[in-house]
Amino acid sequence: MTQDEMKQAVAAAALAYIRPQLESDTVLGIGTGSTANLFIDALAPLAGQLEATVASSEASAARLQSHGIPVYDLNTVDAVDFYIDGADESNAALQLIKGGGAALTREKIVTAVAREFICIADQSKLVHTLGQFPLPVEVIPMARSHVARELVKLGGDPVYREGVVTDNGNVILDVHNFPIPQPLATEQAINNITGVVTNGLFAHKPADVLLLGTSEGVKTLYAE
Ligand code: 5RP
Repeated sequence: MTQDEMKQAVAAAALAYIRPQLESDTVLGIGTGSTANLFIDALAPLAGQLEATVASSEASAARLQSHGIPVYDLNTVDAVDFYIDGADESNAALQLIKGGGAALTREKIVTAVAREFICIADQSKLVHTLGQFPLPVEVIPMARSHVARELVKLGGDPVYREGVVTDNGNVILDVHNFPIPQPLATEQAINNITGVVTNGLFAHKPADVLLLGTSEGVKTLYAE
């Protein structure tokens, strides 16, 4: 099975997971990236039955709307029942690195509101220790150099993601060479740097379930 086939399989598995629980007033949170895009496409046949979605990026909102699926501002809904999104890495506790698509802040906001976060990913994303994937940090543009210096003090090697402006008008620093054995403490420490909007560690609020695409099929994992 190729990586793309595994992503397709977990997108279908996520739909099968939520479908029996869909009610007339269910609000779905929709993530960003290639795996989330496959989930959006899998949702298309249900467009007429979906009351509301909220999206973690302008790109995902546009893709949902292209299928005729209604997208709402998060401020106009009372709750988000399920949030479905990919990840760049997950450990066994379902703590994640996200933000490869630069949507980390809105992803973290929708995660904060969601009743259940269903992460969908292929097997390459499951790691023992987070940090092989460079950790994205969204930064207010004028604070870029200050934040970079502070990230070096924490032991990382920040690299400015040239040419990328987030949906919130900010920039991204990707922290390389930065193993993360204590995700809770690291998430907090980076968020405490003045000028950081947020970082791509989802440790304080990890995924609730991980649908992992493997060569033996989709595995359903819960936090260890
Ligand atoms: C976007 C994200 C994505 O979930 C993450 O980058 C995984 O993307 P893909 O499904 O394309 O592998 O966090 O900001």
